[in-house]
This record gives sequence, C-alpha cells and structure tokens, in this order.
Amino acid sequence: MAHDIATRDDAGRLTLGGAALLDLDFARVATPAYVYDVDGMVRGARELDAAFDGAPHLVAYAVKANTAGPIVRALAAAGCGADVVSVGELEVALACGVAPARILYSGVAKRDDEIDRALTCGPRGIAAVQLESAEELRRVAARAREVGRRARVSIRVNPGVDKAALGTHAHIATGHDEAKFGVPRDEVTALAAEARALEGVDLVGLATHVGSQFTSLEPYVEASRTLFALARDLLAAGAKLEFVDSGGGFGIDYGDGCPVRPADFVRAARREQAAAGLARLDLHVEPGRSLVGAHGVVVASILQTKAAGGRRWAMIDAGMNDLIRPALYQAKHRIVPLAAPREDDLAFRVVGPVCESSDDFGEHVLPAHGKVAILDAGAYGFTMASQYNGRPLPPEVFLQGGRVVAESARGSVDAWVRSRVAM
Ligand code: LLP
Repeated sequence: MAHDIATRDDAGRLTLGGAALLDLDFARVATPAYVYDVDGMVRGARELDAAFDGAPHLVAYAVKANTAGPIVRALAAAGCGADVVSVGELEVALACGVAPARILYSGVAKRDDEIDRALTCGPRGIAAVQLESAEELRRVAARAREVGRRARVSIRVNPGVDKAALGTHAHIATGHDEAKFGVPRDEVTALAAEARALEGVDLVGLATHVGSQFTSLEPYVEASRTLFALARDLLAAGAKLEFVDSGGGFGIDYGDGCPVRPADFVRAARREQAAAGLARLDLHVEPGRSLVGAHGVVVASILQTKAAGGRRWAMIDAGMNDLIRPALYQAKHRIVPLAAPREDDLAFRVVGPVCESSDDFGEHVLPAHGKVAILDAGAYGFTMASQYNGRPLPPEVFLQGGRVVAESARGSVDAWVRSRVAM
C-alpha cells in the first residue's frame, strides 16, 4: 500500500496533516523535533472502531507507542481505552480521560504499588490486570485483600507460536515458547482454576499479544485461534469470562509495503471469535503503532556532509537517542527533504551525532543542506528517546486541522548539566 500520509503540496513541499512542514517556525521549534498529525491518528481509531460493526469491543490504545497528552486525549475522546504497562502510563491514561473500566494493565513485572493503583482507581479498579503467572496471581490476590478491593484479572496467554512463523524482528516477537511473556497455553487451565477458587479475584478475560509489526494476518490469526479455543474451554468449565483480548501488533508500511490494514486484523480476529462460538464476549485489541506510527515524523537538519571512504555522508542533528528503532531493530525509516526534491539531490549515508556506529539511518536521496523528515516516527520514537551523549529530549509539536495546537519545549542543556552536577 502506498504511503499516503506525509504527502507533498503543489510546490513539492512535504506536508503532514495538511500543513507544509517548512512553514513551522523553526526559529522557535529548533530541530530535531517530533511533529504529529493528531487528526490522522483519530481517523485511524475510527476506522478500527468501524471494523467491529457495533459488536461489543474495546480498542485499548497501547500507550507505550506514544504517551503524549494531546494524542492520548484525542484517542480517548475518539472512544479508545488504554493498554498500559506501568503506573506512569496508567496515570497518563487516567489524566487524559480514559475511564478506569477501559484500561488494561499488561506489564510483565508489576510492583505492588502499581498493582494497588490498578485495583483502586475508579469504583471497580481497571478493566483487568493481565496476569503473567500463577505467582503473580497470588500476589495480586494478596494486594486485593490488603487494599480491600476485588481484583478483576485476565490471563495473558503465551500461545507458543513458532518464532519464525511470527515473521517479525526477534526483539519484537513475544508469543513464542522462549519468550518471558505470558502463561504457556498448557498451563492456562490450571491457572484459571486457581484464580476462580481464590477469594477476592474475578477472572474476567483471556488475553494474548504475540508480537509487533505484523505485515500478514497469519500469526495473529493463529494466536487468536489458540486463545479463543482456550476461552471456549474455560467457559464450558463455568468460568465467567467477559472478554477475549487478541492483542496489538498490526503492522504499518515503513516503505516496504504492508498489504494488511489494521481493520483487517480486527475482522480476522472477529471471524475466529465467531467460529469459536464466542461472539457474545467483548473483543479487545491493543494497537499501538498502527494508530500513531505513520502520523508522526522527526524533523532534523543536515548539519554537515562529507565525502570519505568512497561514501557521501550526511550528518543530521537527530540521532539514535531521538529515534532508536534503526539501531535497535535494524528498522528502516525513510528520510526525505522538507523542500521539493531536486534533480541534483544525491544518495547520502545518513548518520546522527551520537558516538556509536549504530547511529546510522541508512542511505537516502537528499540535498546537501536543509531540513529533512524521518518518516513513520509517531510510534516508539519519543517514548524510547534518551538523553545519551548529553542530548536533551526533543520538543514535540501537535497538529490538528493543519495547525499547531500544542507543543512542548525542548529539554534544556542547562537543566541537563544541572541534573548531572548538582549531586
Ligand atoms: N499490547 C502489549 C501487551 C504489548 O506489549 C504491545 C507492544 C502492544 C500491545 C502494542 O503493539 P503494537 O500494536 O504497537 O505493535 N519498540 C518496538 C515495539 C515493541 C512493542 C512492545 N509491545 C518497535 O519500535 O518496533
């Protein structure tokens, strides 16, 4: 599918959400800067919602992809719940207007204070604490007694999909037998029985999440089928499940194509759900990247070019500390000029300022000067950014209706220096 999100205007300038990025006031918003089109994110959420055709469901936005208030608020207003993995993300979701009953907590290792907050926010706590083990079930039950609440829990199933069949980068594959995540499928029945026998615990769902950036339906369908078969057996044994949760992981087009749309994953999961006789249960999904990834860019400036070792290099002012995906997963992000492409643009090896060889964004056709955009940086960009090499975090700029509606300040060098020396 063609990339139709960052497009060019009549003058050839790169636009995002209807705004020419060169029109941003870069005297105020220095580069590198994250720029997001919030409208595009909301449109994606609505499209996903429509794929449920009114059937009971929850689109729990995986907040880890992008925790920015303007984005979480807009998605919450568009009907999304939230999938969180820490008390920090839980507080962001609550502060952005997500009702506790629409929040799932999927953290793989939860502290007592995190469990307590999940159990005590709102009248009934959150929708479910997604359990990772029998040991965790016992701890959650103990915390529920301690804080005087019932614990709504679901079991995160590891369906044991073959690692190769998951077909995604090893670092973002979670639903295979060697992963730290979830409860192996052949241990789910015993754990469910233990949960049902425990005082103060309500087993309300079964969940899975097998990986990220899927560009085909098969691994998702296979995992969902395993999950739904287990849910059907538990219901037959008398469990009072309210939902099944087939997770996130819907891929986006980073330039190599992605023939499936997020709504296709939902439709495929719904077919499996119906085939398992579970149509009356709520279907939860936990998309992160697919809602926000394509609607954000990093705008960077070319600081310097050089010819060395038979290569043309372009050094930009964004580095792996601002967008770690290429260094961490060998991910490719397209880099394009903000100005209209010119015939004398050249292929450059684009690298950042960080003192690591892996601070390398690959080869891109660019001018020798000016500003560029690293595309598809709306997910796992800012949220994975660090201050490595004494580089304060970049500002974030939010567009709605083609205009800047909010922006954050760049982290200051002074504040960073103070934070290091004032101890
Ligand atoms: N649910 C759970 C339990 C998860 O662990 C994740 C992502 C999601 C949902 C959302 O997955 P998504 O729809 O965004 O694929 N930093 C990596 C991705 C790691 C994803 C971790 N878990 C990247 O930049 O590709």
